[in-house]
Amino acid sequence: MTPETRVAVVTGSGQGIGKAIAEQLAEDGYAVVIADFNGDTAETTAAELREQGFKAVSVQGDVSKPEAHQHFVQTAVAEFGRLDTYVNNAGIAQIKLLKDQTPAEMQQIFAVNVFGTLYGIQAAAAQYEKQADGDHIRKIINASSIAGHIAFDMLGAYSATKFAVRGLTQAAAKELGRHKITVNAYCPGIVGTAMWEQIDNRMVEELGGTPGQYLDQYSKLITMGRVETPLDVANYVSYLASTKADYMTGQAVQIDGGIQFI
Ligand SMILES: NC(=O)c1ccc[n+]([C@@H]2O[C@H](COP(=O)([O-])OP(=O)(O)OC[C@H]3O[C@@H](n4cnc5c(N)ncnc54)[C@H](O)[C@@H]3O)[C@@H](O)[C@H]2O)c1
Repeated sequence: MTPETRVAVVTGSGQGIGKAIAEQLAEDGYAVVIADFNGDTAETTAAELREQGFKAVSVQGDVSKPEAHQHFVQTAVAEFGRLDTYVNNAGIAQIKLLKDQTPAEMQQIFAVNVFGTLYGIQAAAAQYEKQADGDHIRKIINASSIAGHIAFDMLGAYSATKFAVRGLTQAAAKELGRHKITVNAYCPGIVGTAMWEQIDNRMVEELGGTPGQYLDQYSKLITMGRVETPLDVANYVSYLASTKADYMTGQAVQIDGGIQFI
């Protein structure tokens, strides 16, 4: 049976896609834990949700540290009594040619995007093991990307991390299904957030041109004719977090307005 109040942790939800996911899950009836490296944006998001009458708290932490995820889960349990959905959304991008990639940069992007996702899976699964939830299906949802299906040049390290997130998603789905946990990923396309501003700016630095040029160039690839919004992504995550997706696991669907057709 589905509990009366479902509880979600969303990492990287102080801004961008994570914030839209947290807002959408709150509208869906979830109590939400807004977890972010940036404690200020996390608290602003949580306060906005509380002002609208939703249940939300903020917590600061770095997803590349296992203890941060344990703290996020403990916050969910202390504030709202349980955990139903864990969204490993936080991620970073690096925009450079692979020939220039340093070991420290490679370690940093894997620490956040890949290790951060693994630690989130582990912390959520450990909490789910403690809950006697009967047939209620618990969720783990990870941020991959269209770059996790086909690698992008200038985003080589980033693409590698997002391929790895798909691998973790599939393996975790296989391992956790018997514990009534589904594990899926969402693969956004070109979303108008700070991350794409950073990508565009760095491409101008590396390749020349004017601000906005590369976002425009890549946007021309979008079948639906417009840049993706964080809400476009959140609508899909809302489905994954709902009972309607209880029979879906191990998938990494591209929600990209029609850029890649694989
Ligand atoms: N923007 C896009 O076009 C796009 C496309 C595909 C996938 N994605 C993925 O979606 C996710 C969200 O992207 P976004 O565009 O909203 O990014 P964003 O940069 O706008 O927001 C990322 C958030 O994550 C937080 N964060 C970063 N590192 C963290 C850490 N170590 N610990 C905790 N929090 C941390 C930041 O403080 C920020 O609030 C990322 O995983 C990204 O790779 C984005």
